[in-house]
Amino acid sequence: MKTLPFKLRDLPGTPLFLAPQAGVSESPFRRLCRSFGADVVLTEFVSAEGIVRGSGRTAHYLRFDEEERPIGIQIFGADPGTMAEAATLVTEVYEPDFVDINFGCPVKKVVKRNGGSGCLRDLALVGRIVRAVADATPLPVTAKIRSGFDEATRDPVAIGRTCRDAGARMVTLHPRTRADMYSGRARWDEIAVLTRALDVPVIGNGDVRSGEDARRMRERTGCDGIMIARGSHGAPWLFHQARAALNGEPVPGEPGVRTRFRICIRHAEHAVAFEDDADKAVREFRKHLGWYTKGLPEGRRLRQRLFQVRDLLEVREVLGRYLDRNGDGKGDRNGDRRGFSTRPGGFIVTGSRANPDPLRGAPAGR
Ligand SMILES: Cc1cc2nc3c(=O)[nH]c(=O)nc-3n(C[C@H](O)[C@H](O)[C@H](O)COP(=O)(O)O)c2cc1C
Repeated sequence: MKTLPFKLRDLPGTPLFLAPQAGVSESPFRRLCRSFGADVVLTEFVSAEGIVRGSGRTAHYLRFDEEERPIGIQIFGADPGTMAEAATLVTEVYEPDFVDINFGCPVKKVVKRNGGSGCLRDLALVGRIVRAVADATPLPVTAKIRSGFDEATRDPVAIGRTCRDAGARMVTLHPRTRADMYSGRARWDEIAVLTRALDVPVIGNGDVRSGEDARRMRERTGCDGIMIARGSHGAPWLFHQARAALNGEPVPGEPGVRTRFRICIRHAEHAVAFEDDADKAVREFRKHLGWYTKGLPEGRRLRQRLFQVRDLLEVREVLGRYLDRNGDGKGDRNGDRRGFSTRPGGFIVTGSRANPDPLRGAPAGR
């Protein structure tokens, strides 16, 4: 087993990572996922130019709480000098546990300027960026890559080696090309090949939607860690389920509706506390409301109401009325006094030892 370049709080075997996700992996969600067993979290990608310019919005993306550690700040950009400067600033001001470089973002606006997966068209540039960042910070530098820019340039091993040779101490592979965007299936065979090819940890990413998926990814690829993005949307307990599956224990079922709503409301409370502008926080939280209510009976009607809410009170009212009308749903009857299911093998809303109570306390910026 290869060793991660930063310290974990627990020694979990195969570590679970919450993926960097623009507009999703913000501090409140990162803390929630940590409490459900994510071992490592990352900020969303942050523009190196924005960091160097000192933009206020950028500073907002970089804030994190001590309890989130180990945390990586992810930066992107196509200019090695600016990336280096950003890495130095981030190291001095925020002191994350590692600095991650984004070579995967497929968004046109970013790619057009050679950022994110745009860099994958020029491996020499990838090498220069990693080297510049590694020289600019004493922290471990890591890279998150796709398998290539398109089918013609598809070569995850060459990309991974370039990063490694330039100083990356861990590589995460989302095995799709930029041209694939999110279509088709992630090619886990490429994670297996890269894991064997590199002497630094390789984190597998792509299409892990259940605890069982996590177990299968490890089994099929031998990867050194597993990163989850979309599967955690409206389901931060996926980390708890993945850990059980990786440990060979019975995988807890999905929480009942009442528990789900309680987690959703606590997440919303912290999202509002974290933002300066409460109205904006609630507007931005609507996507989470959609995810938390996916698959529920009469879910569409519920979501129509939720997408119109303007404050937390309304969120509570709409969810409360839904429970009054529809009941708790299946499997949520034997919650404890805090309302959390404690049946054996069931879903438990407790977190890691480091943070036993999900979303405890007010979020503190840094
Ligand atoms: C809403 C959203 C935002 C994302 N933002 C980022 C980002 O900021 N940085 C990054 O490296 N990847 C980003 N990704 C990609 C994910 O980290 C991950 O590689 C991809 O979703 C595949 O994993 P999954 O199948 O578990 O979703 C984003 C994905 C989603 C869905």
